[in-house]
Amino acid sequence: MEVDEEFLQRVSDAVDKRLSGKRLEHVHSVSEYAAKLAEIYGANVFDAKVAGLLHDWDKLLTDDELPARLDELGIERPAHIEFLYPVLHSYTGAVAARREFPELTDEIESAISRHTLGAVDMSDLDMVIFIADMIEPLRKAKKRPDVKRMREMVGTVSLEELYFEGYAATIRSLVERKRFIHPMAFEIWNGLVEKYHPIDKSRQGDANIVL
Ligand SMILES: [Fe+2]
Ligand SMILES: [Fe+2]
Repeated sequence: MEVDEEFLQRVSDAVDKRLSGKRLEHVHSVSEYAAKLAEIYGANVFDAKVAGLLHDWDKLLTDDELPARLDELGIERPAHIEFLYPVLHSYTGAVAARREFPELTDEIESAISRHTLGAVDMSDLDMVIFIADMIEPLRKAKKRPDVKRMREMVGTVSLEELYFEGYAATIRSLVERKRFIHPMAFEIWNGLVEKYHPIDKSRQGDANIVL
């Protein structure tokens, strides 16, 4: 989007009205940290601020409310919906935020929508929001060595590398906590491995798959 401070203020005010407490502090923190990442990595700083503020627009909805929200917004209910409540708000939030602010661009809607499950072909803005959500300063790093390591990597590795690392950390954490992993997340993970860590066919036995 074009830089429009008045619009940014309007978004910020709307978020302040809609969210509260820790969740509100988190979205402001994501917005600021995303702007910092965007500056470091040459992404659009204004878009990063706006997408950061709006990324959890629907996070206040309960598990009981989310299926109806999907229907209301014309989004198809995914398979295994019972395991997916933590990610649904990114899909509904993207569409709902744009309904609230028609000025939002496809790029911003995409970054909101992809902040939980991610994708293989992430734009710089998508990655900035995904990473900022994971490691913004209010996220406690005490029990999450991944968060601490990723913070240290900022500015020293590429945005792609940081995202790949973040995705690995997310999958690892889900496995460690014995949580359901959406089939799409496996597809995305495998796509990322193909993209960033392809099998070196010249070295026998150096497969990425261990069976
Ligand atoms: Fe979220
Ligand atoms: Fe978030």
